[in-house]
Amino acid sequence: SADELAGLACEEDVQARLVINRQGKWQVENGPFDEARFAKLPKRDWTLLVQGVNHHLPEAAALLQRFDFIPYARLDDLMVSYAPDGGGVGPHFDSYDVFLLQGQGKRLWRVSEQDDLTLVDGAPLRILKNFKTEQEYLLEAGDMLYLPPHVAHWGIAVGDCITYSIGFRAPSAQELATQFLTYMQENLSLEGMYADSDLKPSSHPAKISAEMIGRVVDMLKKIRWDKQDVANFLGSYLSEPKNNVLFDPPAKMDSGDFLKHLRNSGIALDLKSQALFHGKQFFINGEQITMQAGHADALKLLADQRWLAASCFADSKPDDKNFADASLDLDLGLVNILYQWYQDGYLQFPHTGG
Ligand code: SIN
Ligand code: CO
Repeated sequence: SADELAGLACEEDVQARLVINRQGKWQVENGPFDEARFAKLPKRDWTLLVQGVNHHLPEAAALLQRFDFIPYARLDDLMVSYAPDGGGVGPHFDSYDVFLLQGQGKRLWRVSEQDDLTLVDGAPLRILKNFKTEQEYLLEAGDMLYLPPHVAHWGIAVGDCITYSIGFRAPSAQELATQFLTYMQENLSLEGMYADSDLKPSSHPAKISAEMIGRVVDMLKKIRWDKQDVANFLGSYLSEPKNNVLFDPPAKMDSGDFLKHLRNSGIALDLKSQALFHGKQFFINGEQITMQAGHADALKLLADQRWLAASCFADSKPDDKNFADASLDLDLGLVNILYQWYQDGYLQFPHTGG
C-alpha cells in the first residue's frame, strides 16, 4: 500500500526518492524521509519511488521471484512507485530491460522508439528533451508492459497509482572491466623481483632505459586469467550486496538448537541475500566456497528456490547428538556451513524473519 511504501521510505537503509513536478519544473529529493514530509506534498504531480522493496517485504520478494525465468545474475530488484494523479518521473529511457507491472490504479504509458535521446540540460533527473509519443497504453491493475533498453517511455498516473518495476541488471563494459581488475588485483600472486645483473654505467641516470621497460613488459606478461577466474569474479561481483545493504545478525542460538529448527522448518535465504553458483563454486553475498560433492545438490536448490524444506535435513544425525562434536559426517558439514551463514544474517528460518 501507499502507506507501507511511505513507511519504508523513512527507513535508514532504504533507497527512496521523491520526484515532484511543479509547473513543468522537475524537483528530486532523496530519502530517507521524515514522516512529516508526506503531509506537505502537493495534491498531484509527484511520485515516490522505493528501490529494492524485495529486500524488505516477503510479498515483494515473492513477486520478484515470479520472474525467475530470468537468471538471478540478470535480475536487479523490485522498485515500487506510488503516485497521485499526474505523477511520474517524466519522459526518459533506461539502459536496461524492464517489466512495468501495474498494481493499484491506472497508469498511462507513452512509448517511443525514437532515435533522439537528447536529455534536458541541468534537470535533476534524466528527462528527454524531444519526446514524441508513438504508442500509448493505459495499464490497469495486473497489466504489464515490457520495455527493451533505450526505448523512450513516460508513465503518467491516472488517479492514485502503484507501479512495480522489475529491472534487469546490465553492467557497462567499463564497470565490468574495472571491477574485474580490482578482483584480479586481490587474487593475483606473481613470483620474482625486478633484477638486472648486466646493468651498465649510465650517462643519463634520469633515463628509464629500453631494457628496463622490456623487462617489466615481460614481468607483466605473466598476468594471466582464464574462464575460471572470470567465473569466480562474476560470482563474487554479482552476489556482492549493494552499499546500502546491511545484514542483521540473528539472536544467539547454539548449533544444536539450530539443527532442531532446521529439521522443523527448513531454512531460507534472507530477503537481502544473493546466492549464485557455477561449477563447484558457490557464491553468497560476495563470498565464495567450493561445494563438496555431497552438498552441491542442496546448495544449488537453496540458491535456485531461495529456501530448503525441512525434509532436506531429515536424515542428518539424531537430536541427542551434538553435531558440533568431532564426528561430523558430510551432511553435518552442510549444517555447519548453513549455521555459519545463519549467524552472518544471510539465512532466516522461513516465516519468522527477513
Ligand atoms: C515509475 O514507476 O514511475 C517509473 C518507472 C520507469 O519509468 O522506469
Ligand atoms: Co523507466
